Amino acid sequence: MLIQIPLASACKESDVTPESIYLSRRAVLAASLAGLAVGALPAWALAADPSQYAGVEAGNAPDWFKGKLSSTQWQAVTVKEEAITPFKDATHYNNFYEFGTDKGDPAKNAGSLKTEPWTVVIDGEVGKPGRYALEDFMKPYQLEERIYRLRCVEAWSMVIPWIGFPIAELLKQVEPTSKAKYIRFETLQDPKVMPGQRSGFALIDWPYVEGLRLDEAMNPLAILAVGMYGRELPNQNGAPLRLVVPWKYGFKSVKSIVRISLVSDQPKTTWQSIAANEYGFYANVNPTVDHPRWTQAHERRLPSGLFSPNIRQTEMFNGYGEQVAALYTGMDLRKDY
Ligand code: MTE
Repeated sequence: MLIQIPLASACKESDVTPESIYLSRRAVLAASLAGLAVGALPAWALAADPSQYAGVEAGNAPDWFKGKLSSTQWQAVTVKEEAITPFKDATHYNNFYEFGTDKGDPAKNAGSLKTEPWTVVIDGEVGKPGRYALEDFMKPYQLEERIYRLRCVEAWSMVIPWIGFPIAELLKQVEPTSKAKYIRFETLQDPKVMPGQRSGFALIDWPYVEGLRLDEAMNPLAILAVGMYGRELPNQNGAPLRLVVPWKYGFKSVKSIVRISLVSDQPKTTWQSIAANEYGFYANVNPTVDHPRWTQAHERRLPSGLFSPNIRQTEMFNGYGEQVAALYTGMDLRKDY
């Protein structure tokens, strides 16, 4: 998303997932799914069993995560008739600028991120501020699997089985005051382990910050994720805690969160600060409002390649309009993009 650099958004053929990667992955899947490539397997057809996700690399989950997995509500939300993106693509085609700007950089470089111990600070306009070890922070929440579309502003998309809990549950715990109007999320800032934060060329004023209006955060679809594909989050996907708001462009889904603040004013968010004419605060997926340099009417669903570009029409609110459109009643979404 760097504004001076040509982007995947331009849908360059050289930027798509190499065909060899997904063909070899399909071969593996074919073996394990009795002839069914995962590309042919609709999300809703999966059994409530995370071992269904073929090709998932084993992680090294902390005990608190393993303890919660057995009571996880699988497929609490699914996407009908759409294939889940293979694990390999979801974990090797990433945006996490703290670890580099190429899509493969996060997978290469994020191994240096230490996610245990991890501390989350809750502050601002809340009755119950605090600084928590992640395992304590997570104690009140039951995990749910949410299979959501992810639509990047760069015009590619995936379908990801996240594991997380609704932000509404967190808000119940921390008790926002009457002055709280927005929620602000901040990523870890640690230049020692995040090469992108050491780079003199980065346009980003670290740490990466995102925010939601409080009623958006209360929407049942908005979650904080701690896992995906039946395991804990890989580092490149924002371990150990990230935001997921499926009706908004992916850049809202801030990774590796260390601080959550309830605030009265709209937070200054990272991409809006860099180029407000290109990236708005709301960032709702909207096929009728183009990015100044490319159309948002369609998207490449990964994996996509030269001979199978896998182009789809982009849906308003990424297909979640029924659940979220009412949040924007009376707003001009051309202005508040
Ligand atoms: N969070 C941080 N801290 N840094 C980033 O560069 N990139 C965003 C978002 N969250 C980003 C981030 C963008 S542009 C997208 S599309 C999604 O993460 C990508 O998530 P994924 O790599 O898990 O697909």
